[in-house]
Amino acid sequence: MHFLKALVALLLPQLGLSLATPKPGNETAGHIPGTSSHHAKVRGQTYHYLLAEPTSAQKGTILLLHGIPDLSYGWRYQIPPLAKLGYRVIAPDMLGYAGTDSPCSVTHWARKELAADMADLIGQLVPKGEQVIVGGHDWGAGLTYKVALWHPELVKAFFSIAIPYVPLWLGPTKEWVDMLDLVENGTFPSMGYQLQFREEALERNVTSLAQIRSFINGAYGGTTLDGKGAFSPQNGVDFDIVDQLGPNPLVNSSELDFYAKRFHINGMRGPFNWYRTRRMDWEDELPFLKDGPIKYKMPVLFMPATKEPNSMPANIWTDMGDYFESLKIQELDSHHFAHWEAADKVNEALATWLPTLQ
Ligand SMILES: *[C@@H]1O[C@H](CO)[C@@H](O)[C@H](O)[C@H]1NC(C)=O
Ligand SMILES: *[C@@H]1O[C@H](CO)[C@@H](O)[C@H](O)[C@H]1NC(C)=O
Ligand SMILES: *[C@@H]1O[C@H](CO)[C@@H](O)[C@H](O)[C@H]1NC(C)=O
Ligand SMILES: *[C@@H]1O[C@H](CO)[C@@H](O)[C@H](O)[C@H]1NC(C)=O
Repeated sequence: MHFLKALVALLLPQLGLSLATPKPGNETAGHIPGTSSHHAKVRGQTYHYLLAEPTSAQKGTILLLHGIPDLSYGWRYQIPPLAKLGYRVIAPDMLGYAGTDSPCSVTHWARKELAADMADLIGQLVPKGEQVIVGGHDWGAGLTYKVALWHPELVKAFFSIAIPYVPLWLGPTKEWVDMLDLVENGTFPSMGYQLQFREEALERNVTSLAQIRSFINGAYGGTTLDGKGAFSPQNGVDFDIVDQLGPNPLVNSSELDFYAKRFHINGMRGPFNWYRTRRMDWEDELPFLKDGPIKYKMPVLFMPATKEPNSMPANIWTDMGDYFESLKIQELDSHHFAHWEAADKVNEALATWLPTLQ
């Protein structure tokens, strides 16, 4: 292992690559043209959000919700094209992240609370009576289903990237089922990482700026010289190799510095809290099932990432249509971070779908 480390350290500079060493501020990454940065007091928490005004006649407002590990900046490839199409775009740092607060109690991450936060933010930024289009990736996609469940009157339509609507995973369900049981009984073997991410002990491994940088580099697909990744859907992050990874294919080193610095503001407890509310959400959402299974009435576009490395069981979304009155599916030939890797395809799909909502 030491030999390998030494070899990596020796070879990387030759290849023009650098080991995951955090650098102080780099201003070239982190800004999206046409956006401005704002703060709002939302139900007692400060939320930071990016705002872009439409650059053609306004057609509506789009609220973009990022996932883990990501930021409002994660929408850098979508915001300018959407503004150009005539949409006002609002992209918050989600609870626990960067410029947004990370309160002590995990109860703030219950999806009912996060959905209420988004409803409050919409109420502050959008004229009364105007419905918005909500879009999300990863846990942000998970939250689109919840904003639409708790506050359907505010949601004209929504789209989700990479995360299908699967009741057994996202709820509501009649019976309480722990994720551990679903992993162990073979229903979702590829969600084993969620068991690691919900452990309190995990935060101690992802505390310093350097550790955070290595962790997200691993999450974005950085590999060792022999091609080994540090993240597996079955087991989560392998901390024995996470600091030995070369660059990832998705963000360059200045962007990675930017991400790491932004995550370091609050630490990783908030981001991991998104995995720790399953039981609360189950209880909160039981009333929605009193008249049978739920069915979303507004138009929905789901964009699965079809190269997702085993993290979604095959065809997990085949019966997704049962829960929507108007569901469109646009597959993306991409791994998990499809809003970056397949940005053009995502933007094309949105440019086609959005006019159907007028
Ligand atoms: C930021 O990144 C750019 C592009 O690689 C580089 O030229 C510049 O020196 C970096 N600045 C800092 C402060 O690291
Ligand atoms: C990294 O990407 C950012 C944003 O796309 C860009 O501004 C910057 O110049 C790039 N830096 C390097 C080192 O390629
Ligand atoms: C695993 O558990 C879930 C929840 O109890 C259940 O719906 C599913 O059928 C089980 N799967 C297997 C293979 O036992
Ligand atoms: C933290 O990292 C160590 C290795 O450095 C590993 O053994 C341990 O399992 C990690 N903790 C968690 C919760 O993953």
